[in-house]
Amino acid sequence: MSATAKVPGAQRYLPDKRALGALRDAAAGCRGCELYRDATQTVFGEGRRGAPLMLVGEQPGDQEDRQGHPFVGPAGRLLDRAIHDAGIDPELVYATNAVKHFKFTRREGKRRIHQKPGRTEVVACRPWLIAEIEAVRPQLVVCLGATAAQSLLGTAFRISTGRGQLLRLPDAAGVRSRARVLATVHPSAVLRDRTDRREAYRGFVDDLRLAGAAVTGESRAVV
Ligand code: URA
Ligand code: SF4
Repeated sequence: MSATAKVPGAQRYLPDKRALGALRDAAAGCRGCELYRDATQTVFGEGRRGAPLMLVGEQPGDQEDRQGHPFVGPAGRLLDRAIHDAGIDPELVYATNAVKHFKFTRREGKRRIHQKPGRTEVVACRPWLIAEIEAVRPQLVVCLGATAAQSLLGTAFRISTGRGQLLRLPDAAGVRSRARVLATVHPSAVLRDRTDRREAYRGFVDDLRLAGAAVTGESRAVV
């Protein structure tokens, strides 16, 4: 193995041509971190180039890993409903994840339990996310949860204090993009909320409505 083969991270798997299709094809063969070993497949983002809204989740879940598409499991169903309730046309959305392979542990032989990706994996996978932002050229990137938010806004970012605000991508993120960023909770956090799930859902929809209004140039939500 050459010395460069040991360098972790997705960067060296990026193709010269950075169109979405070429990125997707190249990401299918990524071995930039350990996660490709146990996962079924790379789950790349979906949507069209020029989509004004890019939603960034954490990582594919069990269903996404099997089917090869982002947000097709329980969290995805909640997200679809929230997008609808926020009055956002799904055609305007490109959906992806901060990490593109499913990280899990096995319980009782079979069941695969989601594990939160570590900083190493988030950093390793970030070149794909950056390349997607540069290829799609969204007006606004919506980070769903802390993993996505910290990938783009830094590890000091907290959803609790920073959610629902229109921010700029920091230069440190190294993205050639004028897109703004807005962070909100992850749809799984809404599903798991034990205090007041309806309230958590409402807050999530409010943030998405703000995001939708931001890309249509309106300052207030349209209900
Ligand atoms: N959760 C995520 O963050 N992304 C998916 O694609 C599915 C569930
Ligand atoms: Fe590559 Fe990301 Fe998969 Fe790691 S998680 S192997 S960096 S695509």
